[in-house]
Amino acid sequence: MRKNIVAGNWKMNKTLREGIELAKEVDQLLKDAVINCDVVLGVPFIHLASVVQAVDSKKIGIAAQNCADKESGAYTGEVSAAMIKSTGAGYVILGHSERRAYYGETPEMLKIKTELVLKHGLKPVFCIGEVLEEREKGIHFDVVKAQMAASLFDLSAEEFSTVTLAYEPVWAIGTGKTATPEQAQEMHAFVRRTIADRYGKELAETISILYGGSANPQNAKELFSNPDVDGGLIGGASLKAADFKAVIDGFNK
Ligand code: 13P
Repeated sequence: MRKNIVAGNWKMNKTLREGIELAKEVDQLLKDAVINCDVVLGVPFIHLASVVQAVDSKKIGIAAQNCADKESGAYTGEVSAAMIKSTGAGYVILGHSERRAYYGETPEMLKIKTELVLKHGLKPVFCIGEVLEEREKGIHFDVVKAQMAASLFDLSAEEFSTVTLAYEPVWAIGTGKTATPEQAQEMHAFVRRTIADRYGKELAETISILYGGSANPQNAKELFSNPDVDGGLIGGASLKAADFKAVIDGFNK
C-alpha cells in the first residue's frame, strides 16, 4: 500500500571521488540482491550528476539535501530545484534539523522550498522532529504537528501524496541514542493520524514515514518492524556501503 524506503543522508561527507566510489559500492551490493524497499542516496549538490550516472536508476534514487527557496536569479551560492532536477536526481531532503538549527531555515522558507521542489517534479523527503527539551516538556507531538502544518498542510492532496516524511528526533541524530521502537511507532502513528485529519485516512495510509536518528544495522530490523515505520533516513551508517546494505536488509524477513 505504501513504499518502504531506506534513504542515506551523507550530509557534508565524501569528496566527489569518494562519493562516486561509495555510490558504486552500494550499487554493486544491490545488484543481485533481493531487497524489500526503495533505496535513495542523499548526496552533496556537487555529487548529484555523477552519482546519478554511477548507479542503476531502477534500483537507486538520488536525493539532494536541500534546495534554494527561490526559483532562479541573483542568489549567489544557491542551487535551485530546476538545477537539481536537471542532474537526474529525483528527491530533495528538506527541513533537516541541521538546516533548521544552523542555517536558520524557517517553516515559511520550507513551505516555499517544498512548493518549488514539487513544481519541478521532484519528491520531497520532509524532516520533522523535536529537540530533547521539547520531549522532556512533553510537547513533542505539538512540535511535530506544528512543523507539518506550517510547511505542508497548504498543499493539495495530490501534491501531498508525493511527500515522504522523515521523523528525526533531534536528540537521536548522531548521538548513538536511538528512539526506542515504541517511541518511534508512537510518533509515526501520531504523524499518520495528523495527516489523516488533514487529508483523510485513505491518503494518510499511502504516505511513507521514515525514522531517522542513529539507525544502524543493529537496530534497523526492530525499528522497521513497527507498522507505521516505513523505513529510515540514515546518516552515519550510510557512509559505509556494507552498513547501509545491512540497514536495507532490516526489511528482509
Ligand atoms: P545519524 O543516522 O547519523 O544519527 O543521522 C540521522 C540523520 O540526521 C539523517 O538525516
